[in-house]
Amino acid sequence: MRKKIVAGNWKMNTTVPEGVKLAQDVVAKLSEVPSDVNLVVAPSFVHIAQVGEVVNGTSVGLSAQNCADEVKGAYTGEVSAQMLSSIGVKYVILGHSERREYYGETNEKLVKKVNLALAEGLTPIFCVGEKLEERKADKHFDVVGEQVKEVLFTLSAEQMANVVIAYEPVWAIGTGETATKEQAQEIHAFIRATLAEKFGALAEEISILYGGSCKPSNAQELFAQKDIDGGLIGGAALKAEDFIAIAKSF
Ligand code: PGA
Repeated sequence: MRKKIVAGNWKMNTTVPEGVKLAQDVVAKLSEVPSDVNLVVAPSFVHIAQVGEVVNGTSVGLSAQNCADEVKGAYTGEVSAQMLSSIGVKYVILGHSERREYYGETNEKLVKKVNLALAEGLTPIFCVGEKLEERKADKHFDVVGEQVKEVLFTLSAEQMANVVIAYEPVWAIGTGETATKEQAQEIHAFIRATLAEKFGALAEEISILYGGSCKPSNAQELFAQKDIDGGLIGGAALKAEDFIAIAKSF
């Protein structure tokens, strides 16, 4: 059985008090969520310690939105995987399209980040996805296949077993436009088949989340797809009510 996961990517939103309140609201509604659904919140670095205090001892997992591609040392402004694990962080989102697009995150850098995160016992939520022009040119399978191969194919099976994948078509992120359930299922199945080329049966065990304008009104049809194991939620994760409604959509 693959893990069902609903992760909230808060991005650069909320002040610290607002973030703490949001986490408290999520925790307050936790009993509504089926126990086999794993909830994760990913606030900004500044929030993490305080949000951690709110979710500690609950079933909500704490995630970062990024980590450094070096172990430690003279890297001003960076946050290491070890720093994160030292305060109870369990997950780290890596390779989000916004980081690839605005901060020059390459597959090469991501190999380093994924390895460092895994070495610290963090679960990477590794993001893949094509841009609109790539989808229009029918290149989405090539693009996503390359992202999977260049980064995840460098891992051992033991490492891969601890990775979660998020497929996020860039054209659906924050745009209100969602991939149809058929489009999403098609590419999730493709990602799983690609993983199977290298990792065999392990591919069946890897959770693959959908992201990109996932909300209470469309989560159910997306999560009902065979190869969709949950969601990476941006905008809708900023309202506890919507986030919880999505988590109840399996
Ligand atoms: P969105 O963002 O739900 O606001 O589209 C998803 C994401 O980027 O993780």
